Amino acid sequence: MIPAEIIKQKRDGAHLSKDHLCEFIQDYVEGSISDYQMTALLMAIFFNGMDDDELYSLVDIMVNSGEKMDFSNLECFVADKHSTGGVGDKVSIILAPLLAAAGLAIPMISGRGLGHTGGTLDKLETIPGFRVDLSLTEFRKAVEQTGIAMIGQTNEICPADRKMYSLRDVTGTIESIPLICSSIMSKKIAEGIQGLVLDVKIGNGAFMKKMEDAKTLGNMLKRIGEHFGITTDIVYSSMNQPLGTTAGLWCEVKESINSLKGNGTDDTMKITYELGSRLLLQAEISKTRDEAISLQKSIIQSGKGYEKFLDLVKNQGGSQKEIEQYTKLHSPQHTREISANRSGFIQNMDTYTIGLATVTLGCGRTKITDPVDPTAGMEFLKKTGEKVQKGEPLIRCFNSDKPKLQNTVNRLESVFQIGEKQISHPLIY
Ligand code: URA
Repeated sequence: MIPAEIIKQKRDGAHLSKDHLCEFIQDYVEGSISDYQMTALLMAIFFNGMDDDELYSLVDIMVNSGEKMDFSNLECFVADKHSTGGVGDKVSIILAPLLAAAGLAIPMISGRGLGHTGGTLDKLETIPGFRVDLSLTEFRKAVEQTGIAMIGQTNEICPADRKMYSLRDVTGTIESIPLICSSIMSKKIAEGIQGLVLDVKIGNGAFMKKMEDAKTLGNMLKRIGEHFGITTDIVYSSMNQPLGTTAGLWCEVKESINSLKGNGTDDTMKITYELGSRLLLQAEISKTRDEAISLQKSIIQSGKGYEKFLDLVKNQGGSQKEIEQYTKLHSPQHTREISANRSGFIQNMDTYTIGLATVTLGCGRTKITDPVDPTAGMEFLKKTGEKVQKGEPLIRCFNSDKPKLQNTVNRLESVFQIGEKQISHPLIY
């Protein structure tokens, strides 16, 4: 069928057959279908959605556009965790070593920062020498030897998604639930995992602002996972304030190391343990949620989680010596604090603006080629529900570029809503 006919079918709300979808996507990857034709199809999907048959076909086509990992030779349960993105969310860096220490294999393919949200890859790259661009052979070897590897999407994994995602990013077609779900899940399926837990974020710092949309997304992710034989659990959690005490690059790795050494904050550890429990139950390593939480706590207390993190660093070329002196690494040159403009309780934090501010501090990019500043980030001295006095510092911002710091601080003046009443928000729904 000629490409325009396929576009018209979707435009008019008709069902697309797998053959037609496959022909269109394969021709796009090979270059005989242009960006403008693919944009038209993506926009038609954006407006008309996809039925489940189309969705499963799309995922299958994206997975089979590249290589699929196979870890069936391993005796352990192979699993991964994914978050739909937030501010200060460093859970992957804590959870992956914890689970590997518990005996699971975690072949994790992570992303870079997207919009106002931080990316695990950008954070890991601040570890001196750490390579996120392992070849698939190196990736497999690392998982086989230590049970853990964390890399970025390679040319071999889901090339169709890679090309379509870049196009979606510049054509206003990111925010389509079937396109988001097929993009996330194709990469997870290509990892060759048996189990998956997805942290679907909801709130003013998440891509999904409302529970209803988050549920649609979560249910679709689960349906795709189960259709492709992956046991999939969904956790819905709040992104109405940043997670933990820092958001940025190296500062989040530092907080993750502190967490693995037993000094994590309540919110970060609660989410880590909840997500971890789902996978420990799937793997049948723990029989109950309580047992799974105790196991994770004991792995932290024994130092085995931190040791596994050191294995990960070593395997991927990172400097263990520098990690040992982690408190001295990437010291920022400049620091500024934002103070409370009145006394009262913190009732709300504008997490979206805080996320955007991390980007302008130097933690994110506006163009793919922009360099990032590993020293950049912020520390949250107060969080929602806490009492503050007028003039008390609320956020400490830091980086090594004074003009950027100056510009960012101005944006943060009004991110805190302070009032008379103490309000608490749920963390996990
Ligand atoms: N992350 C992905 O991998 N794909 C999307 O479409 C959105 C977030």
